[in-house]
Amino acid sequence: FDAVDVIRAKRDGHGLDDAQIDWVVDAYTRGAVADEQMSALAMAILLNGMDRREISRWTAAMIASGERMDFSALSRPTADKHSTGGVGDKITLPLAPLVAACGVAVPQLSGRGLGHTGGTLDKLEAIPGWRARMSNAEMLAQLEDVGAVICAAGDGLAPADKKLYALRDVTGTVEAIPLIASSIMSKKIAEGTGALVLDVKVGSGAFMKTVDDARELARTMVDLGTDAGVTTVALLTNMQTPLGLTAGNALEVRESVEVLAGGGPDDVVELTLALAREMLAAAGRDDVDPAEKLRDGSAMDVWRRMIAAQGGDPDAELPRARETHVVTAPAEGVLTQLDALKVGVAAWRLGAGRARKEDVVQAGAGVELHVKPGAPVRGGEPLMTLHTDTPERFERALEALQDSWFIAPDGSRPDLLPLVVERIA
Ligand code: URA
Repeated sequence: FDAVDVIRAKRDGHGLDDAQIDWVVDAYTRGAVADEQMSALAMAILLNGMDRREISRWTAAMIASGERMDFSALSRPTADKHSTGGVGDKITLPLAPLVAACGVAVPQLSGRGLGHTGGTLDKLEAIPGWRARMSNAEMLAQLEDVGAVICAAGDGLAPADKKLYALRDVTGTVEAIPLIASSIMSKKIAEGTGALVLDVKVGSGAFMKTVDDARELARTMVDLGTDAGVTTVALLTNMQTPLGLTAGNALEVRESVEVLAGGGPDDVVELTLALAREMLAAAGRDDVDPAEKLRDGSAMDVWRRMIAAQGGDPDAELPRARETHVVTAPAEGVLTQLDALKVGVAAWRLGAGRARKEDVVQAGAGVELHVKPGAPVRGGEPLMTLHTDTPERFERALEALQDSWFIAPDGSRPDLLPLVVERIA
């Protein structure tokens, strides 16, 4: 094979055959296809797309580049959740222990944040002592014993994707549905989960800005999972406005613990339960009511054991930022808009996220919201509190928040998508 022939074929709008796909993914992973060649191919795929057979083969080739985990020896079924990423999306934290408390094991391989979206591992690292790295043997033992693991993916899982994702990030080729779908699904299929629920976010704070694009991504991923023998379901959910009342690492852990204690913001509770019901149904355990496991404390019990098993102290005081700044409402009315992307960028600039992979995040930094769209506000009432250890960051965070919210006259209503927009199976 010749890399240039493969690039030309996709450039000219032809389908790639199975042998071409297997070769190019493998040769790229080994270094026999150069970065500049793969970036040209990625751009041709972004512009000309791939059909279902090509995406499925591409995903299989990425899985074959590394190891496949196997949880079939566990005494319980497995289910995992993947979110395409958003602002204030801490759902994995209460969800994994909740589903485990219902009798389904949750092997949740998670990532770090880059840009304005947070990462589950950064959030959990706000808990003193907690560690993200685990061997496969430790992971299996914890799944059997506690029922839930949230940890970093090992280097052996889909190495082709690690290399390709880093390349796409710097070549303007992230936003291709076939490449996003195969990237996510190669890792989830290689992880070996029996059932998978996808939370595909739609709105300003998400990758997919429109319901049509989110639906196409969801459909592509559900088909890939189904073709690979994984029971896969997707929910399209609202990311026009942040989830819950916090965006930032320790702030989000605190809110997640409130949910596990039976409280927390309505939208976080509602989405956690909706995803839990889908995971349980996909794993064949829809006889259990997850709301009951939040009420009776058993989800909290699994959370505490899960955190402790990874070196964390579930009773430790969570870090708080040294400085705060309160943004107040200038007038009376109804909050009709609170933009997810702008709040995410503000949290990032306050120190909750990183601009480069090697940056260190501030555990206490972020944005705490005091009102959600639809709520009445009085003039002078706090709308949000900004948290950071480095107060020189307030100015740029406040710039990001310009026009992020809108207060309309009394009686107005926000024009927002519902929390769960659509279900795709
Ligand atoms: N997340 C991934 O893992 N891969 C993508 O391509 C996009 C989001």
